[in-house]
Amino acid sequence: MLDRTTTLQDDAPLLIAEGLGKTYGRLQACRDVSFKLYPGEVLAIVGESGSGKSTLLQLLSAQLAPNSGRVSYRMRDGITRDLAAMGEAERRLLFRTDWGFVHQDPAMGLRMAVSAGANVGERLMAVGHNHYGKIRETATTWLERVEISGSRIDDAPRTYSGGMRQRLQIARNLVTEPRLVFMDEPTGGLDVSVQARLLDMMRSLVGELGLSAIVVTHDLAVARLLSHRVMVMQGGRVIETGLTDQVLDDPREPYTQLLVSSILPA
Ligand SMILES: Nc1ncnc2c1ncn2[C@@H]1O[C@H](COP(=O)(O)OP(=O)(O)O)[C@@H](O)[C@H]1O
Ligand SMILES: [Mg+2]
Repeated sequence: MLDRTTTLQDDAPLLIAEGLGKTYGRLQACRDVSFKLYPGEVLAIVGESGSGKSTLLQLLSAQLAPNSGRVSYRMRDGITRDLAAMGEAERRLLFRTDWGFVHQDPAMGLRMAVSAGANVGERLMAVGHNHYGKIRETATTWLERVEISGSRIDDAPRTYSGGMRQRLQIARNLVTEPRLVFMDEPTGGLDVSVQARLLDMMRSLVGELGLSAIVVTHDLAVARLLSHRVMVMQGGRVIETGLTDQVLDDPREPYTQLLVSSILPA
Protein backbone atom coordinates (compact mmCIF):
# COMPACT_ATOMS: atom_id res chain seq x y z
CA MET A 1 0.00 0.00 0.00
CA LEU A 2 1.10 3.56 -0.51
CA ASP A 3 2.92 5.02 2.41
CA ARG A 4 2.00 8.65 2.56
CA THR A 5 3.98 9.43 5.68
CA THR A 6 7.53 8.73 4.52
CA THR A 7 9.61 11.75 3.60
CA LEU A 8 10.46 10.83 0.05
CA GLN A 9 12.54 13.97 -0.39
CA ASP A 10 15.44 12.48 1.60
CA ASP A 11 16.94 10.82 -1.48
CA ALA A 12 18.35 12.48 -4.56
CA PRO A 13 15.70 13.09 -7.25
CA LEU A 14 15.18 10.37 -9.84
CA LEU A 15 13.97 12.76 -12.51
CA ILE A 16 14.24 16.52 -12.82
CA ALA A 17 12.24 18.64 -15.27
CA GLU A 18 13.39 22.21 -15.79
CA GLY A 19 11.45 24.82 -17.73
CA LEU A 20 9.95 22.34 -20.19
CA GLY A 21 8.11 23.83 -23.13
CA LYS A 22 6.63 22.45 -26.34
CA THR A 23 4.87 24.28 -29.16
CA TYR A 24 2.87 22.93 -32.08
CA GLY A 25 2.93 25.78 -34.56
CA ARG A 26 1.45 28.68 -32.59
CA LEU A 27 -0.05 26.45 -29.93
CA GLN A 28 1.82 26.22 -26.61
CA ALA A 29 1.01 22.65 -25.61
CA CYS A 30 3.33 22.75 -22.62
CA ARG A 31 4.82 25.82 -20.92
CA ASP A 32 7.64 26.17 -18.44
CA VAL A 33 7.05 23.00 -16.44
CA SER A 34 9.55 22.28 -13.65
CA PHE A 35 9.45 19.66 -10.90
CA LYS A 36 11.42 16.87 -9.26
CA LEU A 37 10.34 13.26 -8.89
CA TYR A 38 11.83 11.30 -5.98
CA PRO A 39 12.48 7.56 -5.77
CA GLY A 40 9.35 5.62 -4.78
CA GLU A 41 7.11 8.59 -5.51
CA VAL A 42 3.96 8.43 -7.62
CA LEU A 43 3.07 11.70 -9.30
CA ALA A 44 -0.28 12.24 -11.00
CA ILE A 45 -0.66 14.79 -13.77
CA VAL A 46 -4.32 15.84 -13.93
CA GLY A 47 -6.32 18.32 -15.97
CA GLU A 48 -9.07 18.43 -18.55
CA SER A 49 -8.67 17.08 -22.06
CA GLY A 50 -6.25 19.19 -24.13
CA SER A 51 -4.48 20.68 -21.10
CA GLY A 52 -1.13 19.22 -22.20
CA LYS A 53 -0.84 16.12 -20.00
CA SER A 54 0.16 13.66 -22.73
CA THR A 55 2.54 16.16 -24.31
CA LEU A 56 4.27 16.61 -20.95
CA LEU A 57 4.50 12.83 -20.44
CA GLN A 58 6.08 12.43 -23.87
CA LEU A 59 8.61 15.15 -23.07
CA LEU A 60 9.45 13.52 -19.74
CA SER A 61 9.94 10.11 -21.34
CA ALA A 62 12.08 11.48 -24.19
CA GLN A 63 9.57 10.51 -26.86
CA LEU A 64 9.25 14.13 -27.84
CA ALA A 65 11.98 16.78 -27.91
CA PRO A 66 11.15 19.99 -26.00
CA ASN A 67 11.46 23.44 -27.59
CA SER A 68 12.83 24.68 -24.30
CA GLY A 69 14.05 23.27 -21.01
CA ARG A 70 15.38 19.86 -20.20
CA VAL A 71 14.81 16.55 -18.43
CA SER A 72 17.50 14.90 -16.32
CA TYR A 73 17.37 11.32 -15.06
CA ARG A 74 19.44 9.61 -12.39
CA MET A 75 20.76 6.38 -13.89
CA ARG A 76 21.32 3.17 -11.91
CA ASP A 77 24.98 4.11 -11.46
CA GLY A 78 23.85 7.23 -9.58
CA ILE A 79 24.89 9.65 -12.31
CA THR A 80 22.25 12.16 -13.39
CA ARG A 81 22.12 12.63 -17.16
CA ASP A 82 20.44 15.10 -19.49
CA LEU A 83 18.15 12.99 -21.70
CA ALA A 84 18.66 15.21 -24.73
CA ALA A 85 22.42 14.64 -24.52
CA MET A 86 22.00 10.84 -24.72
CA GLY A 87 22.30 8.96 -27.94
CA GLU A 88 19.25 7.26 -29.44
CA ALA A 89 20.65 3.79 -28.63
CA GLU A 90 21.15 4.74 -25.01
CA ARG A 91 17.62 6.12 -24.72
CA ARG A 92 16.24 2.93 -26.25
CA LEU A 93 18.20 0.90 -23.70
CA LEU A 94 16.68 2.99 -20.92
CA PHE A 95 13.23 2.16 -22.27
CA ARG A 96 14.01 -1.53 -22.32
CA THR A 97 15.52 -1.68 -18.84
CA ASP A 98 14.86 1.17 -16.43
CA TRP A 99 11.57 2.49 -17.74
CA GLY A 100 8.11 1.21 -18.48
CA PHE A 101 5.39 2.91 -20.48
CA VAL A 102 1.74 1.92 -20.08
CA HIS A 103 -0.45 3.29 -22.87
CA GLN A 104 -4.17 3.92 -22.61
CA ASP A 105 -4.68 1.69 -25.62
CA PRO A 106 -3.07 -1.71 -24.90
CA ALA A 107 -2.66 -2.26 -28.65
CA MET A 108 -0.03 0.51 -28.59
CA GLY A 109 1.97 -1.23 -25.90
CA LEU A 110 1.54 -4.87 -26.88
CA ARG A 111 2.21 -6.99 -29.91
CA MET A 112 -1.34 -8.14 -30.53
CA ALA A 113 -0.59 -11.07 -32.83
CA VAL A 114 2.06 -12.86 -30.75
CA SER A 115 1.35 -14.84 -27.59
CA ALA A 116 0.95 -13.27 -24.17
CA GLY A 117 3.98 -15.25 -23.02
CA ALA A 118 6.08 -13.80 -25.84
CA ASN A 119 4.86 -10.29 -25.00
CA VAL A 120 6.22 -10.67 -21.50
CA GLY A 121 9.23 -12.84 -22.42
CA GLU A 122 10.43 -10.40 -25.06
CA ARG A 123 11.11 -7.75 -22.41
CA LEU A 124 13.15 -10.29 -20.41
CA MET A 125 15.18 -11.25 -23.47
CA ALA A 126 15.86 -7.57 -24.10
CA VAL A 127 17.61 -7.36 -20.73
CA GLY A 128 19.71 -10.43 -21.40
CA HIS A 129 17.70 -13.45 -20.26
CA ASN A 130 18.13 -16.34 -22.67
CA HIS A 131 17.00 -19.48 -20.87
CA TYR A 132 13.69 -20.44 -22.50
CA GLY A 133 12.38 -22.44 -19.53
CA LYS A 134 13.16 -19.66 -17.06
CA ILE A 135 11.63 -17.00 -19.28
CA ARG A 136 8.44 -19.02 -19.61
CA GLU A 137 8.34 -19.62 -15.88
CA THR A 138 8.79 -15.92 -15.08
CA ALA A 139 6.19 -14.99 -17.71
CA THR A 140 3.69 -17.41 -16.13
CA THR A 141 4.36 -15.99 -12.68
CA TRP A 142 3.74 -12.47 -13.98
CA LEU A 143 0.57 -13.42 -15.82
CA GLU A 144 -0.77 -14.87 -12.59
CA ARG A 145 0.35 -11.81 -10.68
CA VAL A 146 -1.92 -9.71 -12.89
CA GLU A 147 -4.70 -12.28 -12.53
CA ILE A 148 -4.39 -13.88 -15.96
CA SER A 149 -4.54 -17.67 -15.85
CA GLY A 150 -1.26 -19.33 -16.84
CA SER A 151 -3.34 -21.49 -19.21
CA ARG A 152 -3.74 -18.41 -21.46
CA ILE A 153 0.02 -17.97 -21.94
CA ASP A 154 0.03 -19.17 -25.55
CA ASP A 155 -2.98 -17.09 -26.60
CA ALA A 156 -2.47 -13.80 -28.41
CA PRO A 157 -3.75 -10.64 -26.68
CA ARG A 158 -6.20 -10.04 -29.51
CA THR A 159 -8.21 -12.90 -28.00
CA TYR A 160 -8.21 -11.11 -24.61
CA SER A 161 -10.77 -8.73 -23.16
CA GLY A 162 -9.88 -5.05 -22.73
CA GLY A 163 -9.17 -5.45 -19.01
CA MET A 164 -6.97 -8.50 -19.59
CA ARG A 165 -5.02 -6.69 -22.31
CA GLN A 166 -4.34 -3.82 -19.97
CA ARG A 167 -3.20 -6.20 -17.23
CA LEU A 168 -0.94 -7.94 -19.73
CA GLN A 169 0.54 -4.61 -20.73
CA ILE A 170 1.30 -3.96 -17.07
CA ALA A 171 2.95 -7.38 -16.69
CA ARG A 172 5.05 -6.78 -19.81
CA ASN A 173 6.23 -3.48 -18.38
CA LEU A 174 6.93 -4.60 -14.84
CA VAL A 175 8.63 -7.93 -15.52
CA THR A 176 12.02 -6.26 -15.96
CA GLU A 177 11.62 -4.38 -12.66
CA PRO A 178 11.86 -0.88 -14.08
CA ARG A 179 12.63 2.02 -11.73
CA LEU A 180 10.21 4.42 -13.36
CA VAL A 181 6.91 3.77 -15.08
CA PHE A 182 5.06 6.30 -17.22
CA MET A 183 1.33 5.77 -17.62
CA ASP A 184 -1.05 7.67 -19.86
CA GLU A 185 -4.69 7.22 -18.81
CA PRO A 186 -4.04 3.58 -17.85
CA THR A 187 -7.68 2.88 -17.00
CA GLY A 188 -9.14 5.22 -19.63
CA GLY A 189 -10.55 2.77 -22.14
CA LEU A 190 -12.15 0.37 -19.65
CA ASP A 191 -15.57 -0.21 -18.10
CA VAL A 192 -15.96 1.31 -14.65
CA SER A 193 -16.15 -2.09 -12.91
CA VAL A 194 -12.98 -3.26 -14.65
CA GLN A 195 -11.26 0.04 -13.84
CA ALA A 196 -11.70 -0.39 -10.10
CA ARG A 197 -10.11 -3.84 -10.10
CA LEU A 198 -7.20 -2.69 -12.27
CA LEU A 199 -6.58 0.32 -10.06
CA ASP A 200 -6.48 -1.86 -6.97
CA MET A 201 -3.96 -4.13 -8.63
CA MET A 202 -1.81 -1.23 -9.81
CA ARG A 203 -1.84 0.26 -6.33
CA SER A 204 -0.60 -3.02 -4.81
CA LEU A 205 2.09 -3.56 -7.44
CA VAL A 206 3.44 -0.03 -7.19
CA GLY A 207 3.62 -0.39 -3.41
CA GLU A 208 5.19 -3.87 -3.47
CA LEU A 209 7.82 -2.95 -6.03
CA GLY A 210 8.52 0.51 -4.57
CA LEU A 211 8.11 1.93 -8.07
CA SER A 212 8.33 5.54 -9.07
CA ALA A 213 5.59 6.46 -11.49
CA ILE A 214 4.19 9.38 -13.41
CA VAL A 215 0.52 8.84 -14.16
CA VAL A 216 -1.45 11.03 -16.52
CA THR A 217 -5.17 10.97 -15.88
CA HIS A 218 -8.24 13.12 -16.25
CA ASP A 219 -9.87 10.90 -13.61
CA LEU A 220 -9.25 12.30 -10.14
CA ALA A 221 -10.20 8.96 -8.56
CA VAL A 222 -7.12 7.46 -10.24
CA ALA A 223 -4.94 10.24 -8.84
CA ARG A 224 -6.50 9.83 -5.42
CA LEU A 225 -5.86 6.09 -5.28
CA LEU A 226 -2.41 5.91 -6.83
CA SER A 227 -0.48 9.09 -6.27
CA HIS A 228 1.40 10.81 -3.48
CA ARG A 229 1.50 14.13 -5.28
CA VAL A 230 -0.48 15.80 -8.05
CA MET A 231 0.22 18.49 -10.60
CA VAL A 232 -2.81 20.22 -12.08
CA MET A 233 -2.45 21.39 -15.68
CA GLN A 234 -4.44 24.00 -17.54
CA GLY A 235 -3.59 25.33 -20.99
CA GLY A 236 -0.13 23.72 -20.93
CA ARG A 237 0.86 25.16 -17.55
CA VAL A 238 1.05 23.60 -14.11
CA ILE A 239 -1.28 25.78 -12.08
CA GLU A 240 -1.31 23.90 -8.79
CA THR A 241 0.78 21.18 -7.21
CA GLY A 242 0.95 19.49 -3.83
CA LEU A 243 0.22 16.38 -1.83
CA THR A 244 -2.69 14.53 -3.43
CA ASP A 245 -5.04 14.62 -0.45
CA GLN A 246 -4.35 18.29 0.18
CA VAL A 247 -4.92 19.34 -3.42
CA LEU A 248 -8.05 17.23 -3.88
CA ASP A 249 -9.60 18.00 -0.48
CA ASP A 250 -8.65 21.64 -0.31
CA PRO A 251 -7.88 22.97 -3.80
CA ARG A 252 -6.57 26.53 -3.90
CA GLU A 253 -7.05 27.43 -7.54
CA PRO A 254 -10.54 28.09 -8.89
CA TYR A 255 -9.77 25.80 -11.85
CA THR A 256 -8.82 22.93 -9.52
CA GLN A 257 -12.00 23.58 -7.53
CA LEU A 258 -14.01 23.17 -10.74
CA LEU A 259 -12.07 20.04 -11.63
CA VAL A 260 -12.69 18.51 -8.21
CA SER A 261 -16.40 19.30 -8.36
CA SER A 262 -16.29 17.63 -11.83
CA ILE A 263 -17.91 20.56 -13.57
CA LEU A 264 -15.25 20.50 -16.28
CA PRO A 265 -15.57 18.02 -19.16
CA ALA A 266 -13.17 15.07 -19.02
N1 LIG B 1 1.06 16.14 -32.55
C1 LIG B 1 0.35 17.26 -32.33
N2 LIG B 1 0.24 18.21 -33.27
C2 LIG B 1 -0.46 19.35 -33.05
N3 LIG B 1 -1.09 19.63 -31.89
C3 LIG B 1 -1.03 18.73 -30.91
C4 LIG B 1 -0.32 17.48 -31.07
N4 LIG B 1 -0.43 16.77 -29.91
C5 LIG B 1 -1.17 17.53 -29.09
N5 LIG B 1 -1.53 18.69 -29.67
C6 LIG B 1 -2.32 19.76 -29.04
O1 LIG B 1 -1.67 20.14 -27.85
C7 LIG B 1 -2.61 20.38 -26.80
C8 LIG B 1 -2.33 19.46 -25.64
O2 LIG B 1 -2.62 18.12 -26.05
P1 LIG B 1 -2.37 16.85 -25.12
O3 LIG B 1 -1.02 16.95 -24.54
O4 LIG B 1 -2.71 15.66 -25.92
O5 LIG B 1 -3.46 17.10 -23.98
P2 LIG B 1 -4.13 16.07 -22.96
O6 LIG B 1 -3.31 14.83 -22.92
O7 LIG B 1 -4.17 16.81 -21.66
O8 LIG B 1 -5.52 15.81 -23.47
C9 LIG B 1 -3.99 20.19 -27.42
O9 LIG B 1 -4.47 21.44 -27.82
C10 LIG B 1 -3.71 19.30 -28.61
O10 LIG B 1 -4.66 19.51 -29.62
MG1 LIG C 1 -3.88 12.82 -23.26
